[in-house]
This record gives sequence, C-alpha cells and structure tokens, in this order.
Amino acid sequence: MDALEALLTRRAVREYTSQPVSEEQIQTLLTAAMHAPSACNQQPWHFVVVTSREQLDAIAGIHPYAQMLKQAPLAVIVCADLSLETCPGNWAIDCAAAAENLLLAARALGLGSVWVGIHPVEARVKDISALLGLPSFAKPLCLTAVGYPKEPLPKVNRFKPERVHRDRW
Ligand SMILES: Cc1cc2nc3c(=O)[nH]c(=O)nc-3n(C[C@H](O)[C@H](O)[C@H](O)COP(=O)(O)O)c2cc1C
Repeated sequence: MDALEALLTRRAVREYTSQPVSEEQIQTLLTAAMHAPSACNQQPWHFVVVTSREQLDAIAGIHPYAQMLKQAPLAVIVCADLSLETCPGNWAIDCAAAAENLLLAARALGLGSVWVGIHPVEARVKDISALLGLPSFAKPLCLTAVGYPKEPLPKVNRFKPERVHRDRW
C-alpha cells in the first residue's frame, strides 16, 4: 500500500480481533513515529508500549474514552520529555505529528488504530501519568490503540472545495 492510499483509507478503528500485533510490527510503528517532523528537529517524544492485558484494562478503567483497550492488544502512549524542548511550546505539535505517523504506519501494515486524547485534559494527564509511572518531566499527549480491525473500514470523502483558497482567502 502506498503512502497516499494509507492516508486516504485510514479510519478510527475501535473493535479488534484477538490477533496480537507482532514485535516486528511494533518496531515498525515506533520507527514511523520517530521519523515525524518536529520543531528545530527537537524530537521530544517518548513512547510507552503497553501489551499486558492487566495494564490495558487498567487504562480503560481510568479513561472514559479508551474503552476499546478492553479488546485492543496494543496501546502506545505518546509522551514528550519537556526537558528535550529546544524550541519551547512545540512539544504537543511534535508529538501529534509522531502519533499521526504511527496511525498511518498501522494502516499500511493492515492494522487498525485510533487516537485517544489525553492532553489537554489535566485529570487525564494526571491519572495516566500516575498509572504508567511517568517521570515529572514527561507529558502524555495521547494514546493510540492498535489491533487487527474486526470489520472492514468505511470509506469517506472529506474533500471540501469551499475550504480551499487560492492566492488569498
Ligand atoms: C485530538 C484527538 C482526540 C481524540 N480522542 C479520542 C478519544 O478519546 N476516543 C476515541 O475513541 N477517539 C478519539 N479520537 C478519534 C476521533 O474521534 C476520530 O479520529 C474522528 O472521529 C475522525 O474519524 P477517523 O479517524 O475515522 O477519520 C481523537 C482524535 C483526535 C485527533
């Protein structure tokens, strides 16, 4: 699957089969994430890879919109080490680019995934940080649930010509 097909056919997937995601696939997802662009090339990201059923269920237990983790075989929590910021104020944008790369790589591998927000909801940042034992300098932006999709992915067309402006608004 080429890059354009992967990004045009990626959908949020919240139901998965019981098939696990292999270590090789996890490595590919993380490699894709770490090749994202970042401000000043600061690459502030860290990733917490969660595959233990107990920990996946525990995250679902504290995050109301992460119930798909009761079924998903993998979650990757995308965090920033704030001390790595050389261009302050960009950590969330950088980590969002990394998260999107991960979602697109999942699609290219035939996996389904969904972005689950953490930042900027302070209660979620606090609860997830405590559960995962994040150091005080680390901030979780979001998590991505990953697994093999249970159902075929719906097709959508979101192109809106009225949102495009040429040479000036
Ligand atoms: C910042 C952000 C936060 C999101 N948070 C959640 C979430 O907490 N739970 C969830 O199931 N989906 C979440 N999503 C996924 C969106 O609901 C989904 O991407 C959107 O409905 C568009 O569908 P698509 O991904 O199939 O294009 C989030 C997406 C983004 C970008």
